[in-house]
Amino acid sequence: MKNIVCLLGSPRPDGNSAAIAGRFLDAAAKRGASVRTFMLNELKYRGCQGCYVCKHHLDRCVLEDGLTQVLDAVRDADLLVLASPVYYGDITSQLKGFIDRSFSYLVPDYMTNPRPCRLAPGKKLVFVLTQGHPDESQYADVFPRYNAFLTWYGFDGHHLIRSCGLSRQTDAEALDVAMKLAEETADLMFPEPKGSWRP
Ligand SMILES: Cc1cc2nc3c(=O)[nH]c(=O)nc-3n(C[C@H](O)[C@H](O)[C@H](O)COP(=O)(O)O)c2cc1C
Repeated sequence: MKNIVCLLGSPRPDGNSAAIAGRFLDAAAKRGASVRTFMLNELKYRGCQGCYVCKHHLDRCVLEDGLTQVLDAVRDADLLVLASPVYYGDITSQLKGFIDRSFSYLVPDYMTNPRPCRLAPGKKLVFVLTQGHPDESQYADVFPRYNAFLTWYGFDGHHLIRSCGLSRQTDAEALDVAMKLAEETADLMFPEPKGSWRP
């Protein structure tokens, strides 16, 4: 699992979700993974046009815009990191735009085909989700909803790094807990080779 692609859904490059994802990615890179990060907010792209060209004429999205390179990179990734704050009870529109365009990964007979997705199966998923509300029962549906689609696409492992109560003025304590979880997740997914030693 060497090739990581990370999509940052927050418009804030130094925000909470980017910092937590960054901690995971740094730890993975130290263990030899290659990392490619896309700040979605910097790209110019449209949402899915519902044209179905990807079902009737092409095996990819017909739109050529800022998201084209992202869709291509995810196709080649072993591990996808999706990071987003909760905006109005869901992921940001920047990340939702990618999710909708991932419709182009589905084969024409995706409704009935036991292998509905053009992506190679077995990719792993790390989902970073931050929210201002401190109650973790709030918006607990967000990750399972998107994870269900990605599992259907053939992703076969997932880790959620979720942090609640992170407002704009970062709560240092809550962020610290999330950073530790990010490191632990990297430890789990990229174990040190046996016999190596770390202080
Ligand atoms: C437009 C907007 C909508 C938001 N909606 C919610 C929300 O529905 N629930 C919530 O708990 N926090 C909400 N927040 C707060 C963010 O989720 C929270 O501050 C998050 O940690 C920001 O992450 P970031 O620093 O990665 O951008 C919202 C913030 C903004 C700017």
